[in-house]
Amino acid sequence: MAKQATSKKNYIYPLVLTVLILYMAYVTLMNLFVDPQATVFLSRKIDLKRPMNLPIWLDVMHIHVGAACLAMLTGILNFSQTLLRSARKFHRVNGYLYVIAVFVVVLTSGYMAPYTTGGKINSVAFNLVSMVWFAMTIAAIVQIKRKNIIKHRKWMVRSYLFCFTNLFIHLISFILYEGAGLKYELSYTMGVYGAILLNFILAELVIRFVYRKTPNVAVQANRKEL
Ligand code: HEM
Repeated sequence: MAKQATSKKNYIYPLVLTVLILYMAYVTLMNLFVDPQATVFLSRKIDLKRPMNLPIWLDVMHIHVGAACLAMLTGILNFSQTLLRSARKFHRVNGYLYVIAVFVVVLTSGYMAPYTTGGKINSVAFNLVSMVWFAMTIAAIVQIKRKNIIKHRKWMVRSYLFCFTNLFIHLISFILYEGAGLKYELSYTMGVYGAILLNFILAELVIRFVYRKTPNVAVQANRKEL
């Protein structure tokens, strides 16, 4: 039975890694090569309350996408138990890279939030996410400085789930807009709030069901190295 549970967990990581690599490739391809001017996305901003400097917005959005991909990549690598066991220094350096990437994503989000599709209701949501996401990431760092590995991992799971925000927003708004026939702005707003809710719920599910019995690798190894 225990063996079965272990083998089940063994394929979760490669599966998530594969999905993420495909998603990162898709996001980079679409936003930097296929539609670098974001024509499809911008065509839906029909009721902007303030003028937008398009060249600056596009530059910021491209930095946002680059930093988001870096956050996704560095984050997923640090969930590898194999890497954690064999390359502790890599885990640490890569972890700080993740923090920097998250910081750049929230900084660029702060610039784009006032012009968000759907208006103020979504600007507020994005700005709250920025604060909460960064705070959760810092909480993970604080916990590892205190050598509390379990809490470090929990906060990292919570933080990392926010890397899926854009994916969930587009998934939910696509279903509501194309499937249920709702107006685009309403679908997008429900996508934003639905994504935030999903991030929190999925993080708690991962903590409870995926990491419930995972051995505390770092405790078994040399704790001082962390
Ligand atoms: C880490 C994964 C993320 C990726 C891959 C990503 C990607 C993108 C992309 C491609 C856009 C351009 C519009 C679109 O096609 O959606 C965008 C817009 C935006 N993103 Fe992100 N994003 C991520 C996370 C976040 C997070 C966590 C926040 C909030 C803190 C955020 C805030 C924003 C804002 C405010 C916009 C402008 C939305 C609008 O104009 O309506 N993003 N993002």
